[in-house]
Amino acid sequence: MNRIRVYITGSCDGLDTLRQALSEHPDLDMVGWSENVLEAAPALTGGHLQCVLHATRSSTLPADELAQMREHTQAPIVILASGEASALLEQALDSDVADVLLLPQLADNVVFSIRKAAHVGRRLQAEGGHGRRGHILTVFSPKGGTGKTVTATNVATSFAKNDKKRTLLIDLDLQFGDAAIMLGVEPEKTIYDLVVAPGELDTEKLAGYTTRHSSGLDILPAPLRPEDAELVTEVKITRLLEVARESYDIIVVDTSPFFHGPMLATLDRTDELIVLCGLDVPTLKNVKLSLHTLDLLSFPGNKIRYVLNRANSKVGMKKSEVEQALGVKIHFEVPSDRAVPLAVNRGVPAIIADTGCDFSRAVRAMSKGLLLQGDGQKAKRRMFALAR
Ligand SMILES: Nc1ncnc2c1ncn2[C@@H]1O[C@H](COP(=O)(O)OP(=O)(O)OP(=O)(O)O)[C@@H](O)[C@H]1O
Ligand SMILES: [Mg+2]
Repeated sequence: MNRIRVYITGSCDGLDTLRQALSEHPDLDMVGWSENVLEAAPALTGGHLQCVLHATRSSTLPADELAQMREHTQAPIVILASGEASALLEQALDSDVADVLLLPQLADNVVFSIRKAAHVGRRLQAEGGHGRRGHILTVFSPKGGTGKTVTATNVATSFAKNDKKRTLLIDLDLQFGDAAIMLGVEPEKTIYDLVVAPGELDTEKLAGYTTRHSSGLDILPAPLRPEDAELVTEVKITRLLEVARESYDIIVVDTSPFFHGPMLATLDRTDELIVLCGLDVPTLKNVKLSLHTLDLLSFPGNKIRYVLNRANSKVGMKKSEVEQALGVKIHFEVPSDRAVPLAVNRGVPAIIADTGCDFSRAVRAMSKGLLLQGDGQKAKRRMFALAR
C-alpha cells in the first residue's frame, strides 16, 4: 500500500504525542508540521498532499484558517481539537472538513480517519470531480428594486476578483436584465444568441458567448430585446447550467421577481438561494408569499440564505421584526450606502469602485460566508460519494 502523504498545521493539547505516534506509523508519510497556516503555504501548495490535519484550540470552527488553507490545497482536511468543542462539531457538519477528532485519540483511530478522507479525495479525482462541480448561487426577491442585481453583480465580482474563483454571472432577468449595464460591459453576445445558435452546447461553445469583465468575472447577459426572452426556455437553461458547472467554480444567477419556467429550472439546480428582504411591508408580504411557493415547489429550506438589504435604514422597522414576520433568521445584512447608486451610475461595481465602503465590506463578509457554506455542500457530496 502506498503511504499517505499527510501534513499537520496548527496546535492543540495532545498534538505532540499524536505527531510522534503518526510519524512512526507505516501507513503514513508525514511531510511536515507548521503551527502557522500561512507559513505552511508552500508545503500545502506543492506537497502533493492526500490529507491535512489541522489542530485547533478553538471551541468553534476555525473558518479563517480553513479558508487560508483552501487557497493552497484541495486535500481533505481533518480537524483535531482538544477541550470543549460542541459548537465546532456542529459547525463542521456544514463545512468543508472531512472529519473532526477530539484528542486524545488512539493513533489507529486517527490513521483510519486519514485513510478514509484520502480515499474519498482519490475517488473524487478519479471521477474528474475534484469537488469542483460549480456551485449555483441564485439571487431572488419577489419585489422589483430590492437590490437583486446590485447584490448579484457585486457578489459575483467579489468571487472573481478577491477569491480568484472562476465565476460566471447569468442574467436571468430575461426581459429587462441590467447586470451588464451595472458592470459597465457592452456585450457582443447574450444568452439569446447562445440559445438560438445551432448545435449542442458544450463548455467550448459557452466560452464563445460569455463576456469577460476586468475583474475576471464572465457574464452571460440578458437578451437585448424583451421579445427575445421567450426563446430562452427551461430546457435551454437546464443544459446551460449543467455545462456551466463543468467550467466554473461558481455560477451566480440574477433573476426577475417571477417564478417562470427558466427560473424553476434554475431553482432545481440551485445550491444556495439568496432571498433578499427589505425593511418595508410590501416586500415582506411578497417574501412571505414566495417562501410559501418555494415550499410548494419542495425547495429545501436549508439552501436559503436570507439577506436583509439596506439593513441600516431608519424606516420604523427592525431586523428582529423582519425575522419574526418571516419566521426565519437573517444570515447576512447589507447596509444602504451612497456608494452603491454612485457605482451603479458609473457602471463599476461598488466592490471595485469603493473597496472600503460599508457596502463593500458587507459584500466581502457575505461572499466569504457563502463560500464556506458552498464548501460545506461539497463536503456533503463527498460523504455521499463515499457511501455509494
Ligand atoms: N444597499 C444599497 N444601498 C444603496 N442603494 C442600493 C442598495 N441596494 C440597491 N440599491 C439601489 O437600488 C436600485 C435597485 O437595485 P437593483 O437594480 O439591484 O434591484 P433589483 O432587485 O435587481 O430590481 P429589478 O427587480 O427591477 O431588477 C439600484 O439602482 C441601487 O442604486
Ligand atoms: Mg435586477
